[in-house]
Amino acid sequence: MSAKTALVTGAVGEMGHQLLPALATAGYEIVALDLAVLPAELIRYCKESVETSITETGRVRGLLERHRPELVFHLAALLSASAERKPSLAHKVNVGGTVALIQLCQEQARATGRSVRFMFPSSIAVYGLPDQATKEAAGEVREHQWTQPTGMYGCNKLYCELLGTYYSTHALHQGDSGIDFRAIRFPGLISAETVPNGGTSDYGPEMIHAAARSLAYSCFVREDSRLPFMTMPDAVDGFMKLACADERSLSTRVYNIKAFSPTAGQFRDKVLEYFPRADIRFEPVAARQMIVDSWPADVNDDRARTDWGLNPQHDFDSTMGDYVVPALRKRYLAGD
Ligand code: SER
Repeated sequence: MSAKTALVTGAVGEMGHQLLPALATAGYEIVALDLAVLPAELIRYCKESVETSITETGRVRGLLERHRPELVFHLAALLSASAERKPSLAHKVNVGGTVALIQLCQEQARATGRSVRFMFPSSIAVYGLPDQATKEAAGEVREHQWTQPTGMYGCNKLYCELLGTYYSTHALHQGDSGIDFRAIRFPGLISAETVPNGGTSDYGPEMIHAAARSLAYSCFVREDSRLPFMTMPDAVDGFMKLACADERSLSTRVYNIKAFSPTAGQFRDKVLEYFPRADIRFEPVAARQMIVDSWPADVNDDRARTDWGLNPQHDFDSTMGDYVVPALRKRYLAGD
């Protein structure tokens, strides 16, 4: 029997950097797609990589026809801050690209008689709390609560969750729909390997990377702004666990996950424990603050823990002490 094949779109992004090795370790042959050329450290995991936009349906179809992946991680997207700057492009890429890819996977499933598992990174951006007081009072928000996003990215992600669920549950003909859609609403993610770009939760990891490089940092949200976060290795581990879970154990197609929920001020304090000379100021930018204020301070991830064993290894302390700080000291001392 041939090896299992996984397609990863947007493979050059922060998550791709850690997902590709995880898929290779799990025994997958990988085909990748990104606007950018895959760097050497990623290309070595890939059987083929194509440099194109997810909206170039012809080229995406060609890649699917050559490899027939049974697992798809659709990471390609404009993140929240970029989506606010370019809403039309965000809609085209985030919604148009996703629906086209789901439909191509369904075409493939019909041709091969084998359904495609479609893994979708959704986001805490799908939530929309009306004001700061409601956000504080809401506590741990559950999957069905407050899903009235105010940002373009959140609207895109929420609609794609609905589309994915639609395509998974509505068989066009007799029998299987051909799509097994599974999504995680990721919190802010912290990676020691890459610096984020284009997101709203970026202030957390940016603060740490700046301190490790002895650079001053101007934080674009208020000190009391609170969001849920987790490390990238825990996020990728969760995504892989959901991808491997038995369908019968899933009580929903869309899951919250998180590990800890500090305020931006607590982030600063934690960074100062390791980099006492870090120069961090709070200079809120209204448009970005408004998005953070509408996202939940915390989410409830009981379903992920119960259904497929979400079990993040890093709490706030060990994220810094065991994961990020040692890796960044090595990286930036080495002159990277
Ligand atoms: N971390 C992402 C962003 O800030 C949200 O999913 O855009």
